[in-house]
Amino acid sequence: MSEHTHVTASDGVIEVVLDRPEKKNALTGAMYADLASAIEKADAEPSVRAVLVSSVGDTFCAGNDLQDFVSSPPTADSPVVRFLGTLAGTSVPLVVAVQGPAVGVGATMLLHADHVVAAETASLRYPFASMALVPEAGSSMLLPRVTGYLRAAELLLTGEPVTAARAAQLGLVSRVVAPGEELDAAREFVTRLRRQPPAALRLTKRLLRADESTLRARMEQEMGLFVQQLQSPEFGEAVAAFMQKREPDFDAL
Ligand code: COA
Repeated sequence: MSEHTHVTASDGVIEVVLDRPEKKNALTGAMYADLASAIEKADAEPSVRAVLVSSVGDTFCAGNDLQDFVSSPPTADSPVVRFLGTLAGTSVPLVVAVQGPAVGVGATMLLHADHVVAAETASLRYPFASMALVPEAGSSMLLPRVTGYLRAAELLLTGEPVTAARAAQLGLVSRVVAPGEELDAAREFVTRLRRQPPAALRLTKRLLRADESTLRARMEQEMGLFVQQLQSPEFGEAVAAFMQKREPDFDAL
């Protein structure tokens, strides 16, 4: 278990807390592995009604650790690929509490959730094109399905953030609450699931998420292009600009 992830299981619920606030909860390989293991554990235990993900600090999750992308780009057996596969395949309801920015995979994982509570201070951002990358986690398929094509195109092409209120209008979050209340509200939803028959919950989720094979095929296509883009000069410039806290200059390439 990574020092940056805490997993607890009690009373039919597995809670995962991301705890790397100094890097805005950017996900490392070890954190992906912990998330995947927690979801796999939930799938393997028939009495589990939900997995609840939350995090510590002012940011829900700043996406994949950008240094990791540079030093060890994903391969077929990388923890990120395992995590995304587990996310797409789980039958256990996923509930997420978002207190601040959810960026990159921090935002796309929400598309696999069944209930998302966002604080008013939360925002969602899909900066893949801005980082010279392409959408991942099936977001090129799931986002337009939720918001409609034109809104998804705007979010994915511009990489601009969406406020919690707008995300609720778009159907990207279930509920917006006052800052500090998001985890209690998410737990309250889990309590409602806790009263439900677990096998029926799982069957219902599988039906709601019916076309898993199409989703997996898209995720594979996305990952191929994503890894290709990680080698591009555009990505080199984007990541250098982020680390140097400056605007990227793609015209100079
Ligand atoms: N990977 C690695 N480090 C990251 C990171 C990431 N995805 N996101 C943030 N960090 C680090 C910063 O480099 C900084 O480190 P430093 O203190 O050593 O300089 C630290 O976390 C704080 O980040 P900072 O950007 O200064 O905080 P902020 O409050 O101004 O902004 C965010 C917070 C989340 C809005 C901003 O960090 C962000 O947008 N990150 C996302 C990066 C990204 O594009 N991720 C998606 C990749 S597909």
